[in-house]
Amino acid sequence: MTTGISKTAVDPTGFSTPCLFYSAAREGMQDLLAQPEVWRSSPRRILLPAFIGWSANEGSGVFDPVSGLGLEPGFYDLGDDLAVDLASLERCLSDQHYDVVVVIHYFGRTERSIERVRALTDEHGALLLEDLAHAWFTHVLGGPAGRTGEVSLYSLHKMLPMPQAQGGMIAYRNPARITGQQETARELARHVLDHDALSIAGRRQENFRTLTALLEAMPEHGAAFELMWPHLDADDAPQTLPARILGPGRENRDHVYASMNADGYGMVSLYHTLIAELHEHEAMVDLSRHIINFPVHQDVAPEDYPGLVDSFSRALASLPAR
Ligand SMILES: Cc1ncc(COP(=O)(O)O)c(C=O)c1O
Repeated sequence: MTTGISKTAVDPTGFSTPCLFYSAAREGMQDLLAQPEVWRSSPRRILLPAFIGWSANEGSGVFDPVSGLGLEPGFYDLGDDLAVDLASLERCLSDQHYDVVVVIHYFGRTERSIERVRALTDEHGALLLEDLAHAWFTHVLGGPAGRTGEVSLYSLHKMLPMPQAQGGMIAYRNPARITGQQETARELARHVLDHDALSIAGRRQENFRTLTALLEAMPEHGAAFELMWPHLDADDAPQTLPARILGPGRENRDHVYASMNADGYGMVSLYHTLIAELHEHEAMVDLSRHIINFPVHQDVAPEDYPGLVDSFSRALASLPAR
């Protein structure tokens, strides 16, 4: 018997997470879900969270592969802060067999129940697909996001200045899930290494904390708007800072969006409209009418925020529904 330690690592399977590259994450998700090996039962059922957006320009990043492949979707509930409602997830899995369960780490915040979700998907024989479209830098910080499911998806163009605004990466923590997949954009892989991901994560955290402090100090805080996540965990690197603009309908949010963008501040409302399949999920529809996302990306510096907050203040001073 030979014992000892080799001079360098030679085991190709150690910590291996093979990654496939595509022009967008949805293309890679569709490539995975098109594999017959994923499906053990018919119809092909996939369980998704009840907050999935759609827009005329972009379609739906998460749902397009589901409708494109004619899969049968089910939806579990989320709390007000978009965390998984475990009781609802458990109920769905007991009522019906699903071969795939999707968890979204919304706006880069780690879904803190992800390990419990993995235990449930294992119990029910489903593949756990972690959607980290917004969470590449969170993954880099070393927490459970992207280290728990069998497969993780990343939208590179949402996180990095990619050529032609393209890029999606699917990481296979369970390489046995790679069967007949065909990546389409290998050349995009280098852009991931061409950036100092840890420093970007740090900048995003600093931006988030600076902006949170400024927003919390505004007199309108709590009256005209609420922060969704006032606290940032040490292993979360946010994609954006989500807030709720208060008011009866969507008018106030749409006004803030238009007014601040006219001032040159790149606000987004990522999930301003939900896919039609979710129209009965009233709490989520309501959130989609009020949510707005402030930029915290790496091109922003903390000193840029006072100007943004002034613009926000002006927008709140002229809300249509007060
Ligand atoms: C949560 C989520 N998952 C997946 C996607 C798909 O990303 P991509 O635009 O790279 O296909 C998006 C974007 O639309 C998203 O917001």
